Amino acid sequence: MKLIAALIMLCAAATATANPFPGGDSQTGKTLFDKYKCNSCHSAMLGGDGSGIFTRADRKVHNPAEMFTQFKMCSANIGVNLTAQEEQHLGAYLNQYYKFK
Ligand code: HEC
Repeated sequence: MKLIAALIMLCAAATATANPFPGGDSQTGKTLFDKYKCNSCHSAMLGGDGSGIFTRADRKVHNPAEMFTQFKMCSANIGVNLTAQEEQHLGAYLNQYYKFK
């Protein structure tokens, strides 16, 4: 009985700290972000280095699914077809702003 209770608690803990981008590496994400010049448009829109777009009050992305949708729109504009793996890396990188759990 005790063992089962412990197992349930372990599972709950694991869920609470689930990584929304399990296949992503933020360092690789940064490399991709720079390679694709992701902030080129964002900085033209908002000034600065452009990363303000991820923290603006009325930002568009509220969960990982919306982030992936936005990735598709943004990358299509520059003729880039991001792989699922690249999306994970970029998500892990941008999660420094969004802080999705
Ligand atoms: C061709 C210009 C352009 C490029 C290049 C671009 N974006 Fe964007 N991005 C936009 C625009 C425009 C918006 C705002 C969309 C809106 O407000 O509906 C945006 C918004 C975003 C958002 C959502 C910000 C929010 O409000 O929460 C994310 C995330 C994002 N871009 C990621 C990327 C990534 C990653 C790349 C590189 C692969 C990239 N963008 C490249 C134009 C671009």
